[in-house]
Amino acid sequence: MQHSARFVSLFFTGMLAVVSSTCLAEPETQQIPPIESRISEEKINDALSSAYKKYKNLKEGANANYIPALDKVDSSIFGIVLVTVDGKVYTAGDIKSEVSIQSISKVFTMAKVTEEKGIAALPKKVGVDATGQVFNSINAIEQHQGHEMNPLVNAGAITTTSMVSGKSYNEIWNKLLGYYSDFAGRELTVLEDIYKSEAATNQRNQAIAHLMYAYGHIDGDPLQATDIYTRQCSVGVNAKDLGTMAATLANAGTNPITGKVLVKPEDMPEILAVMATAGLYDDAGKWLYRTGLPAKSGVGGGIIAVSPGKFGIAAISPLLDEAGNSVRAQKAIADISAALGGNPYEATPYGK
Ligand code: DON
Repeated sequence: MQHSARFVSLFFTGMLAVVSSTCLAEPETQQIPPIESRISEEKINDALSSAYKKYKNLKEGANANYIPALDKVDSSIFGIVLVTVDGKVYTAGDIKSEVSIQSISKVFTMAKVTEEKGIAALPKKVGVDATGQVFNSINAIEQHQGHEMNPLVNAGAITTTSMVSGKSYNEIWNKLLGYYSDFAGRELTVLEDIYKSEAATNQRNQAIAHLMYAYGHIDGDPLQATDIYTRQCSVGVNAKDLGTMAATLANAGTNPITGKVLVKPEDMPEILAVMATAGLYDDAGKWLYRTGLPAKSGVGGGIIAVSPGKFGIAAISPLLDEAGNSVRAQKAIADISAALGGNPYEATPYGK
């Protein structure tokens, strides 16, 4: 009975599809205008080169030094890459030098856990609320016994890493590295000197992981989760890698250069929302006010930002401000996005 009802409904749906396709006489292929018809190639190149020239000689800020190897990174590195959702790449400055991805990795581990466990898993286990406190705050954990965090602060990020499935350390690690590489569109590797330096000095993160274990958020070995997290932070990326990773987020989870689907389009709004509220830590509000862009920074000096449906943009410069965000990368991305109308909150009155 149930079967025949289902058949009848399928039959009518099928008939309706045939009828509507003949009656409405849709054109055979719908032409999507290239992104250049909305933002011209010339405008993009101008925006990148003027931001690069404007900030090239700015020396404000300092390298992170709480991880000794980061202090030794060449602080003159400065590169900007914008990748449109139709896969066009625009560059200014140094797009080859690699820095460690650091906290930017947290976005992609969040995406992996979302892919494996569904969109509801992270809010349940770590929360999705901005803490308003520094990225490695222990007070924030104590305040709500590890609830009310988000996947982009250390407590939430280490917990998120602990949720990636796999029978062994190597299986989990290879899966994560492969996933990050798919976002970048090339095989990424770990900067071993950064990994060793951070692994030797990450006692605070070990304490955070133990607290999250004690409060029941981490199920497995908290030290294994901390070590995989430390390794994910040490992955080497250049500005082009980060620009492509950002563009994949802007393109509803599909890498616009390789065409590989990495996040379900329906999961992207929630991932971008967490980036908007917590991507630049205790300065996330100021950043969102200024640009409207979901973004993520790392103490290696990289920042990615996403203009959904338009472009992803990344800049690298290791000189950081007090909150741990790259000074030049923030300024360059903000200027470029403003010049290109990247702010997703911008609209024109109906009919104008
Ligand atoms: O947990 C840490 O200390 C680093 N591996 C990552 C921190 C980070 O990038 C904060 N970002 N602005």
